[in-house]
Amino acid sequence: MQVEEILGRVARDLEHLKQFTATPGEGCTRLPFTKEARQAVDFLGGLMREAGMEVVEDAAGNIIGTLKGTNPELPCVMMGSHYDSVINGGDYDGIAGVICAIEVARLLKETGAPMKRNFVAVGFCDEEGMRFGTGYFGSGAMLGNRDPDYCRKFKDTDGISIYDAMKEYGLDPEKIQDAAWKKGSIGHFLEAHIEQGPVLDAENIEIGLVDCIVGIQRYMVTVHGRSDHAGTTPMDMRMDATDAASKVISKIADWAREKADGTVATVGYVKTTPGGMNIVAEKVEFTVDIRSKNNDNINDIAHRIRAALDRETAAMGGSYEMDTKLVITPVNLSEEMLKIMEESCKAHAYSYKYLPSGAGHDSLEIGQVIPTVMVFVPSKDGRSHCPVEFTKYSDLAKAALIMTELAQNLLNRD
Ligand code: GLV
Ligand code: MN
Ligand code: MN
Repeated sequence: MQVEEILGRVARDLEHLKQFTATPGEGCTRLPFTKEARQAVDFLGGLMREAGMEVVEDAAGNIIGTLKGTNPELPCVMMGSHYDSVINGGDYDGIAGVICAIEVARLLKETGAPMKRNFVAVGFCDEEGMRFGTGYFGSGAMLGNRDPDYCRKFKDTDGISIYDAMKEYGLDPEKIQDAAWKKGSIGHFLEAHIEQGPVLDAENIEIGLVDCIVGIQRYMVTVHGRSDHAGTTPMDMRMDATDAASKVISKIADWAREKADGTVATVGYVKTTPGGMNIVAEKVEFTVDIRSKNNDNINDIAHRIRAALDRETAAMGGSYEMDTKLVITPVNLSEEMLKIMEESCKAHAYSYKYLPSGAGHDSLEIGQVIPTVMVFVPSKDGRSHCPVEFTKYSDLAKAALIMTELAQNLLNRD
């Protein structure tokens, strides 16, 4: 099967999916448990069925298609990515990998290649954590890492919990543990994804072979002070939550800059309450996202943030909470599967490069316990998580071809 033939289907499907956004004309906004998520899931389920797969939507909102092998008792080969997006994001992050997985299923079926194991294509629910500040909800549920208490605990900025959002969407959060797969039933996990960074595009390389994914910690910090009149309250008699919070926030990027190992730290959301220009803020909420290939760096920055919050809130006479939203350690991907894909790249004369991932992926969650591999395809100018995100369909088709060859190798193992 040639790249040109694959390209047409990948392009057709991704173009269709572009319409499932809450912000037409302003990028893709497909948050979990929304109308747009439902539309995407229904469309993906239809594609899976057309590809000859048995399809289920599981208790976590993942859409799962299975192409049966001759010995379905063997651990399956699973491939997928996520169908949700960030707010005003792009049309490729996550969803391109779901379409690649469905394309691999089509190619396996069409070539009639022998398959002992099942091939399973998945569209995961809520990888981004955009709505509830968390991440890897669907892939975590598949590994048995989510329960009803987790669903009750995390809320969006409107105060709606995952639990209530699921009920509204038509899923039963009390049954979330039904989404867990039996230990040992997933033999290998594969994910194709856009790079979301500039390396492949700048170096004109077609395929990225991802050897590791950074660890991530995410926090929601709330600093409590007292609201007062901005003009009449002397500087030494106020409990200014903005003053205390900003003293901490202003240090965080510098702490990351001091570290090696691709360490980054981001405060992406800040909210003051009540938020009036002539009122001392009584409350400031802000998020922190810390990432590194070296987990010690992440722990150290989180520790420094706590120490600074202790100091600055004590100086102000206020208090704080630092709620953990996500803690996940860095992961190395399967050397064996990377080597197989490297040989495929050579055979097709595709240029390739080994590189780490600074973005999080379902592979980060799944790779903690299951042999996992990822390929990246170039992102134009490295832009992602924004409406201008762009990846060539021909590059995605090449990734689908490489992954089909890897899947064929894995599917016939005893
Ligand atoms: C997901 O794209 C992430 O890396 O936050
Ligand atoms: Mn993604
Ligand atoms: Mn993303």
